[in-house]
Amino acid sequence: MKKILITGCNGQLGRAIQKEYGDTVTFIRTDMVAGDGVEALDITDLEAIREIANRTKPDGIINCAAYTNVDGCETNEEVAYAANAIGPKNLAIVAKEIGAKLFHISTDYVFNGKGTRPYVESDLPDPVSAYGRTKAAGEKFVQEECDTYFILRTAWLYGEGKNFVKTMLSLAENHSEISVVCDQLGSPTSAVELAKMIHYLGETEAYGIYHATCEGDTNWADFAEEIFKRMGKNVIVHHVTSEEYAAMNPASANRPKYSILDNQKLHQLSADFQMANWSDALDVYLDTLR
Ligand SMILES: NC(=O)c1ccc[n+]([C@@H]2O[C@H](COP(=O)([O-])OP(=O)(O)OC[C@H]3O[C@@H](n4cnc5c(N)ncnc54)[C@H](OP(=O)(O)O)[C@@H]3O)[C@@H](O)[C@H]2O)c1
Repeated sequence: MKKILITGCNGQLGRAIQKEYGDTVTFIRTDMVAGDGVEALDITDLEAIREIANRTKPDGIINCAAYTNVDGCETNEEVAYAANAIGPKNLAIVAKEIGAKLFHISTDYVFNGKGTRPYVESDLPDPVSAYGRTKAAGEKFVQEECDTYFILRTAWLYGEGKNFVKTMLSLAENHSEISVVCDQLGSPTSAVELAKMIHYLGETEAYGIYHATCEGDTNWADFAEEIFKRMGKNVIVHHVTSEEYAAMNPASANRPKYSILDNQKLHQLSADFQMANWSDALDVYLDTLR
């Protein structure tokens, strides 16, 4: 891809993508709010996408835009559906019209979390939250509307922006003890690693759905302890169950308990590129915060 239309360019993944490619490609940078070199583009607006695509003629579209507040989706499912389902549908329609590759990012939360082995790409979505429902609908639309798509399901993403790692470090400023859920398993994933995978796949025509998480797994409480240990913070982490956490935070969405994804398709496709282990990727990220 030489000319890339990027949506949600100021989000965590959007920023990582721009760093990953540097000046090797031309970016048409868009987000909800216009800014320095950034055009306003709301992906729920089909005609606006069509206009910018026909004007700039990208050969790739990377959709980093989404409504990502998992708890907020429960009370704003209509708004979330517009961004997470109608938005990617619109992008897929336009990608097909202009013959561009489309990258769309999805989530481990499309699964119900009742699994007992890592989910592979062919497992069927069965979301247990509004966020998961809207993201699963987005995946379906992309598959229906466009042939040249890559759907990457990622999880527990952190980068430049609001995320779990930064929340933990900010809590450490004024708490000596915190309670973190210990019965949800998953793979913390660095936006830098996800951007590398997108770059790698963008050079191929191996279209389809991919699982795209850092290798290895943990649970939120152990993850929090690793963050504190590596950053020299003295915080006691109380390990609580999802049910105990929900009792303390009634507005929180239902989340899958077993959320480990197997990057099976990438393992089969590539002998030279794989995602880093989550622990190594975390070290690289924490170095940027020191
Ligand atoms: N974060 C995670 O833990 C996680 C886990 C699994 C999958 N994912 C997926 O990974 C992708 C990237 O996530 P991220 O963490 O980088 O997201 P993020 O940091 O929340 O950034 C999302 C960006 O999209 C923009 N946006 C929201 N609605 C839009 C719309 N209708 N039209 C155009 N732009 C819109 C946001 O603008 P405003 O800030 O102005 O709203 C923001 O700049 C998303 O598809 C997400 O669902 C994320």
